[in-house]
Amino acid sequence: MKPNKVLVAVTSFDYTDNADKLKTFFSSAYDTIIIHSNNLNECPKTVDYIIPNNYYTGLWNKSIQKTIEGDYEWLLFVASDVSILNQEIQSLSELINSITQDNNIGVYTFSVDPKSRRTYNELFNQQTKTIRDTSKIEGFCFLCRTSILRKMYPIDYSANQYGWGLDWGMIEIAKRNKLRTVVDDRVIVYHPRSLYPINEKIALKQMMAFLKNLKKQEIQMNRIIIINNLIKTHKYDSYLEIGTRFKKDCFDQIQCNHKLCVDPGKNDIYNFNITSDEFFDINQQKFDIIFIDGLHTAEQSYKDIVNSIKILNDNGSIVVHDTNPPTEFHATEKQYTPKENIIAGYNWNGTVWKSIFKLRKERKDLIFETYECDWGVTIIRKGNGSLLELDNDFFSFEIFDKNRKEILNTK
Ligand SMILES: C[S@@+](CC[C@H](N)C(=O)[O-])C[C@H]1O[C@@H](n2cnc3c(N)ncnc32)[C@H](O)[C@@H]1O
Repeated sequence: MKPNKVLVAVTSFDYTDNADKLKTFFSSAYDTIIIHSNNLNECPKTVDYIIPNNYYTGLWNKSIQKTIEGDYEWLLFVASDVSILNQEIQSLSELINSITQDNNIGVYTFSVDPKSRRTYNELFNQQTKTIRDTSKIEGFCFLCRTSILRKMYPIDYSANQYGWGLDWGMIEIAKRNKLRTVVDDRVIVYHPRSLYPINEKIALKQMMAFLKNLKKQEIQMNRIIIINNLIKTHKYDSYLEIGTRFKKDCFDQIQCNHKLCVDPGKNDIYNFNITSDEFFDINQQKFDIIFIDGLHTAEQSYKDIVNSIKILNDNGSIVVHDTNPPTEFHATEKQYTPKENIIAGYNWNGTVWKSIFKLRKERKDLIFETYECDWGVTIIRKGNGSLLELDNDFFSFEIFDKNRKEILNTK
């Protein structure tokens, strides 16, 4: 009998013959459908649904719609150009069955043959013969819990047609629900370069808008609530903000008797329209609470934190934004690096995490605590802390990613 937990959706675009092959392969173990959506190519022979050409997002939406309608607990999404290299369906379904019984896993993906088109390094097969945690998946082949997909479905394909960023969305929601994303080195897939032309500039723009919206859904906690709670709890009287951009976004919402903001930009009117370094050079005042959200490089945020500690009243708090980047994409040294095609833009957390890491190795007179919301909000207070034992001499993101709870001391 087929396990009715999983629906396999083979999504056909370029490779119609292979779609039929994949359907035959999966059908012996799972309910399997083919959804086709490319007007330019002829349909696979065993197609189940033909939808208008709404690119990846159209296929993704239709697969989830069928998963929800059929009351399946999981969707295995497989693009029609994927070849599974080393598995018989019998053993593959045994692996998948064990995954679907693991309550800690939210998203699962196969490892990628190094001869495939370029993918994220961590997805290439590493011959571990087991599953390992990953911060990336590829949209061409994944198994995901319906409970995660429901939280994103349906994606507005008029706004995000190419569907870039949906993979990050799944991982992010899995994370928020304390579920793991894993890659399986026991299964290897080959994925060729797509034949279909894609406008990468538009796809990137659409992805930014999508990720920004996903960020807005984080309503549980955010920097503003955290800062206002600290002010109320400790009866703080003076607030300094380093990096403000639009005052309405945060500064204006902070409830404190005396407030000052510093920003060298031109987006608003600030008390000090200069850089934080220039401000610390001339400043004579002390503050109860200082919010650091200026330039997100490791070097500058480190300086901002150290300078802020010097002008913080004894019972005061420093609040640092963007300390918990979800992926390496969000954690580049520069905000815009178009040459390498990494343009984090508004989703840029930078390398602020490195300054927290460095301080945790240096300062046992400080106590650190991080909220895992709003890209990471770390509170630093004076007190008897302990030095971090973990080493990461070359500031590898991978090591940070595996140990972020310990490094940031997340709540
Ligand atoms: C992410 S925005 C601040 C967002 C704001 N704090 C909020 O919560 O909505 C970063 C701001 O830092 C400013 N900035 C850049 N370099 C800076 C520096 N060296 N010192 C202070 N602010 C800086 C930028 O002009 C920008 O307005």
